[in-house]
Amino acid sequence: MKKFFVAALATALLTSTALADTIKVGVIGPFSGPFALQGKNFQAGIQAYQALNGDSVGDHKVEIVYRDVPQADPAQSAALAQELVVKEGVQYLAGFYFTPDAMAAAPLLEQANVPMVIFNAATSAIVTKSPYVVRTSFTTWQTSAPMAKVAKAKGIEKVITVVSDYGPGVDSETAFKTTFEAEGGTVVESIRMPLSTNDFSPIMQRIKDSGAQAVFAFLPSGPTTLGFVKSYNENGLRDAGVTLLAPGDLTQESDLPALGDSALGLLTTFHYAVSHDSPENKAFVEAAGKALGNPAELSFPAVGAFDGMHVIYKMIEATGGKQDAKAAVDAVKGLAWMSPRGPVEIDPETRHITQNIYLREVAKADDGTYINKEIQTFEKQGDPGLAAAK
Ligand code: PHB
Repeated sequence: MKKFFVAALATALLTSTALADTIKVGVIGPFSGPFALQGKNFQAGIQAYQALNGDSVGDHKVEIVYRDVPQADPAQSAALAQELVVKEGVQYLAGFYFTPDAMAAAPLLEQANVPMVIFNAATSAIVTKSPYVVRTSFTTWQTSAPMAKVAKAKGIEKVITVVSDYGPGVDSETAFKTTFEAEGGTVVESIRMPLSTNDFSPIMQRIKDSGAQAVFAFLPSGPTTLGFVKSYNENGLRDAGVTLLAPGDLTQESDLPALGDSALGLLTTFHYAVSHDSPENKAFVEAAGKALGNPAELSFPAVGAFDGMHVIYKMIEATGGKQDAKAAVDAVKGLAWMSPRGPVEIDPETRHITQNIYLREVAKADDGTYINKEIQTFEKQGDPGLAAAK
């Protein structure tokens, strides 16, 4: 199996050298099924980047090859990553919405001589799985720890945590609990739900019974986050005064119209809000909205993809289009730029993105649309998850 892979890879490399004027980027994401809107946002971010910066780097045309992994499916992700490298001759792998999909493809990178640029998957440990992983999204450690500080500052003492039971959920729970307890707060109970959970009523009952003043929750953005927030409202937790605190995955802008006025006032911490006020974001929102066709569908995976393309363009520029994963990754260590989300930098040690984390409140804009309004900034946040793991 391994021998076959090496032989096929050699052929693929020869082919890609012969066609050096086109550089292929393989993008894996959910392009069909319940999470298709998240994948569509990957596509919108890529298209926005190419619309604003061109589809070539020097003489090299950059071609995107998409592969669909509709739900977290590590075996399918690894098989498609291998197919992209061996048969398509991609020089870069990118995308990866779900952590298990990124984890499964990371072991291929060194032998294939291919960097991986993660547009979303948010478990801290992914970057430790290969020296060729670079991430332009966020980690749930990075987005959840500031919420613990916000909770304490609001006078909340007792919290129950509820997370999806897989990498980013466990990281989110640990980040919140560790930070909240360091601030003097108490986590009275921690619930982990299977990723497939979509009936949240029993969970809402447990939250009520716990006597906590607030619930801190993480689920991966998609139909279930919308279901969770709806269930929180419909089961009377909001009316009972149990505060919902979460990273921004729970209030992605594309879900806000369906939540309506019942979402007003919800507090979340995140790296990006579509309403972020800057010239870079204005240009991004316009280009990504055009790519989507319906600007109301714009959400955070698009900014991870947009910045991911920036990193890939810099890698191509630095290597002159040659396939050299080490040189490509080395070239973006310490790379800093102004993203639509604010100032960012690739941490040279962790290869993860350093960025501002914003406290946002769901509000109604002057034009009647619902937005995540930034109300506080935690500047230049690295990934505390990796620091904690050391
Ligand atoms: C992940 O699987 O790492 C993931 C997916 C969706 C999110 C956050 C994290 O909103």
